[in-house]
Amino acid sequence: MDFPSSFLNKINTAKKIAVLTGAGVSRESGLDTFRDVGGYWSKYNPYELASPQGFLKNPLLVWQWYQARRNRAKEAEPNPGHLALAQMEKLFPEFYLFTQNVDGLHFRAGSQNVYELHGNIFKSHCFSCGASYDIDFEIGESIDTIPNCPRCNGLIRPSVVWFGESLPFDILSLAYETSRSCDLFFTIGTSSEVYPAADLPYQAKSKGAYVVEINPNETSFTRYADLSIREKSGEILPKILDTIKEIKII
Ligand code: OAD
Repeated sequence: MDFPSSFLNKINTAKKIAVLTGAGVSRESGLDTFRDVGGYWSKYNPYELASPQGFLKNPLLVWQWYQARRNRAKEAEPNPGHLALAQMEKLFPEFYLFTQNVDGLHFRAGSQNVYELHGNIFKSHCFSCGASYDIDFEIGESIDTIPNCPRCNGLIRPSVVWFGESLPFDILSLAYETSRSCDLFFTIGTSSEVYPAADLPYQAKSKGAYVVEINPNETSFTRYADLSIREKSGEILPKILDTIKEIKII
């Protein structure tokens, strides 16, 4: 693919890069997205599986769903998109990767400066007292197997952000600050439907950053992007990486 000169110039001059990723970036690792045809939210009710109310109503169902997703995430491998982002990080003075994904694949690909906006599926905390646990809890077939907090006996839950809950304050603040001060912003593999994460490319744009969207499908943000690349992230990110390397050598 021939990239436009506006993008090549930005690669050449940009010092501070911000990236926002969503479920699409892990699609080529075999993990499901949420809003595509066949995605999770076309099969399940998000409020039953991903809200505090849903958890209190049926904790076993919620645990079973997250346990299955955890197992799939464990088996998945970072794809060429994750790997290219990890390499890109080394080529710019400042590089921040904000992800809505909870699968840990950016870390496993070698990215260092990763900030998880929606938590991490491999961590847990107590629904009642908030105590955090890094233990890989496993549950069985019955409700009795859901782990209880050793401190207060409350129910343990996955440390992911659910509908109606706030994002981690420090990470969200950094995401806003970085989006509003970067030169180049990539929004990759996200439908741009879930706020506040979906607001970040608009913040970047409002402060003059060059914003690139990578997504095989159009989103509500596409028309505001300086460059919309309608390709799979696992295919186009390695090409962008090669282009950056060429430009940086010259
Ligand atoms: P979505 O499922 O809403 O969007 C995934 C996007 O990835 C879609 O726009 C697809 O077109 C795109 N896509 C699919 N395959 C791709 C590929 N190979 N390369 C690049 N893009 C591809 O997922 P998110 O935007 O991440 O929140 O969803 C945001 C949040 O909604 C999630 O973090 C989750 C969900 O509810 C919580 O669970 C709190």
